[in-house]
Amino acid sequence: MTFRATVLTIFPDMFPGPLGLSLAGKALAAGTWSLDTIDIRDFGIGVHRQVDDTPAGGGPGMVMKADVLARAIDSIGADSRPRLLMSPRGRPLTQQRVIDLSAGPGAVILCGRFEGVDERLIEARGLEEVSIGDYVLSGGEIAALVLLDACVRLLPGVMGKAVSAEEESFAQGLLEYPHYTRPQVFEGRPIPEILTSGDHAKVAAWRRSEAERLTKIRRPDLWSQRPAENRPEFPRKKGSTDG
Ligand code: ADE
Repeated sequence: MTFRATVLTIFPDMFPGPLGLSLAGKALAAGTWSLDTIDIRDFGIGVHRQVDDTPAGGGPGMVMKADVLARAIDSIGADSRPRLLMSPRGRPLTQQRVIDLSAGPGAVILCGRFEGVDERLIEARGLEEVSIGDYVLSGGEIAALVLLDACVRLLPGVMGKAVSAEEESFAQGLLEYPHYTRPQVFEGRPIPEILTSGDHAKVAAWRRSEAERLTKIRRPDLWSQRPAENRPEFPRKKGSTDG
């Protein structure tokens, strides 16, 4: 089953953009997923193909028009795919949402621009607002690329085995442990001895401990969501290798 992405935007030239390269690009060429764009301006009004208008109630900026966007969305036809609106007001994107989306038929993604989108369009077409983080982009296009990249790399065959370990770590609510490779010493910094000891159990315990330590320091929000028995104190007692 192909994962089908349809992106509605006033900048169709931004797609596939970076998703035409690397693993996502190969998977796109191989038909593992598909990407169509719909130029919202094709549904605009008048000779200027107007897609936005001044906000009711006054204030700065412009609002994307409900009637124009409705025609653009409806041109897709009946469809079981979730309809997303990329917006800084949305529910924050999580790896779990990405996993669920990538297991489904694809997504219809509306990219907001200007100050926003007429609220009635969001209600009338049942759009799910999705944010990629607490900062404001100049439009939803880059957010849509981010969301699609996260989904496409999970499609069967795109990344091979490389995904699982990393995903498992995040799924468990932990950040990744630190990675090292040759040379053995870089600018006076050696690779942690335990990693070259050949003791797989010790290596696993060290990685686990490092993942926990980093999560506690950098992401107290993730850390506090973990069950108490999975929140060891740091630094650990000398000689402790339990994970
Ligand atoms: N559009 C503008 N900012 C955004 C954000 N943070 N997430 C999703 N879409 C956006």
